Amino acid sequence: MKERLVSGIQATGKLTLGNYIGAIKNSLELQEKYQMMIFIADLHTITLPISKEELAKNREEVFALYLASGIDPEKSIIFYQSDVQEHTTMNWYVLVNTTMGELSRMTQFKDKSNKVKLENGTYSIPTGLLIYPTLMAADILLYNPKVVTVGIDQTQHVELTRNIALRLNKKYKMNFNNVETHIPKIGAKIMGLVDPTKKMSKSNSNLNDSIFLLDDPNVAYKKILKAVTDSENKVYISESKPGILNLLTIYSCLTDTTLEETEILFKDKNYKEFKEAVALKVKEFLTDLQSKYQEARKKVNYWAKIGQNKAQKIAQNTIIEIKKGMGL
Ligand code: TRP
Repeated sequence: MKERLVSGIQATGKLTLGNYIGAIKNSLELQEKYQMMIFIADLHTITLPISKEELAKNREEVFALYLASGIDPEKSIIFYQSDVQEHTTMNWYVLVNTTMGELSRMTQFKDKSNKVKLENGTYSIPTGLLIYPTLMAADILLYNPKVVTVGIDQTQHVELTRNIALRLNKKYKMNFNNVETHIPKIGAKIMGLVDPTKKMSKSNSNLNDSIFLLDDPNVAYKKILKAVTDSENKVYISESKPGILNLLTIYSCLTDTTLEETEILFKDKNYKEFKEAVALKVKEFLTDLQSKYQEARKKVNYWAKIGQNKAQKIAQNTIIEIKKGMGL
């Protein structure tokens, strides 16, 4: 029996090349080794204002892009979080076992909670932001995995999940694992093209900063040509050349070569030649992915139903156990 792994992705914006290299590509390898539960965290997405149309579009896009990228729904269980009601039930059981102090201390809560404009134009802190981590803990504990994959900004939430697991084990005689965090190594952080000192983001307002997986491949090509570099015109690996390092990383991840091999490949090239080569790789990659995406879209509903059923079977058992433990 393979060990279980849980991974969730938000549906807040359009997926970028950074998401592909940092998360999806990594999952392709992991699905060989683990029994992977991978879901679109659409209940997390509604913790901040988002229109119905945008949410509906994003979540389906993300699902289809995962399929198109090679997440195999026969091997992995892929589903929408909101399709498995046990997530919200479990969230309550987790929530009543946390404190205000624990939740309000979370870095992400502190970062996000000071600038939320609600639909009615007022500024307030939505409660959902505070309890975001309990839902995340619920997502994880429901499937009691060995490993969880998250971006570096989410490790504190997994830390909290571990504490909650210990608490539930003690209080209700549960058997939750001490879950390990897996953070993708290489390419974990693809930086912005306009500002290579900041992570490429799906919600940046400067569209030239990010390559979106559904960008027109020719537009993506041009974005790479325009990427901010430096004035040295020499390609080599250096932390003080964030723009060049980023392009080297992109190239090496898309061609499955090491960063050092990529450096050698371009050591005698000027920036123009280097960028053209990176841009071409990106364009080819997107063209191929998007043709698969068109096919994948037709199958989303089918696989979502299957994923829902499989996930629910596991989740229901956890709910039965914890209710028993609680005396419900
Ligand atoms: N909060 C995660 C993020 O923003 C997404 C997520 C929700 C998740 N639930 C999860 C990740 C459970 C791993 C496990 O990236």
